[in-house]
Amino acid sequence: MDGCVALVGAGPGDVELLTVKALRRLQQAEVVVFDRLVGEEIVALIPSTAERFDVGKRCGAPSLSQEAINRLLVQQARRGKRVVRLKGGDPFVFGRGGEEALCLAEAGIPYEVVPGITAALGCAAASQIPLTHRGLARSVTLVTGHLQDGSCFAPWQALVKGGGTLVFYMGLEQAERIEQGLLAAGMTQDLPVALVVAGTSARQQVITTCLGALSQQALALKGQSPVLMILGEVVALRDALLSLAEQSWRSVA
Ligand SMILES: C[S@@+](CC[C@H](N)C(=O)[O-])C[C@H]1O[C@@H](n2cnc3c(N)ncnc32)[C@H](O)[C@@H]1O
Repeated sequence: MDGCVALVGAGPGDVELLTVKALRRLQQAEVVVFDRLVGEEIVALIPSTAERFDVGKRCGAPSLSQEAINRLLVQQARRGKRVVRLKGGDPFVFGRGGEEALCLAEAGIPYEVVPGITAALGCAAASQIPLTHRGLARSVTLVTGHLQDGSCFAPWQALVKGGGTLVFYMGLEQAERIEQGLLAAGMTQDLPVALVVAGTSARQQVITTCLGALSQQALALKGQSPVLMILGEVVALRDALLSLAEQSWRSVA
């Protein structure tokens, strides 16, 4: 009899941001297929009895292709195993969860999707940037900075016209094109920008800058990963929140 597959979102890094449902699926797993973005503390929760497949190998070794991952999920489920496909953030936000779900559905394998906290939400909370704020941002747009062919294209005019907060995933390598595209579409040079490195993890860094200096700042972060870019007036709220929080801590101390 076929097993089943749970496509599980592991969240942005902090082990405490794993959902109760994700943890339960992990504890019941017989096979776990995980990738590079899954935090070490979460990987440590994989039961010792479960077979593990690290499909996002680091240190120069190539990661498995998406087709090979799809085949692996089908093969393991056909062995009758309870398989967990553990992915960083949310499986359906720039996570190729849709491709895996399609492949499992076509193969007739029962599957479910367990949502995770996507990087935009995790990084915003951890860096004190409200993604929407009355009077400042009425919408949030999640954009990929990286297309399948390695290029970067975004509907720049529409993004600027929308007027809300923009969050670029996989944007670091394309920072120059993002800066040029948005400026050419009429965004101002001084638009506040935050670059969040390894958000919610112990190595989190938050760098604030402005659109006109984005590519220069991105260059300074070359090689760091993962990095999320948040662009919008809401980024300026971070400083206000941090300084108010500091004052209130001082008054309690
Ligand atoms: C392939 S996408 C996966 C997104 C994931 N499915 C999610 O929902 O967050 C990888 C990109 O997500 C962003 N990312 C994921 N986790 C992050 C984190 N903890 N801190 C900063 N950026 C992160 C980075 O832009 C990275 O290049």
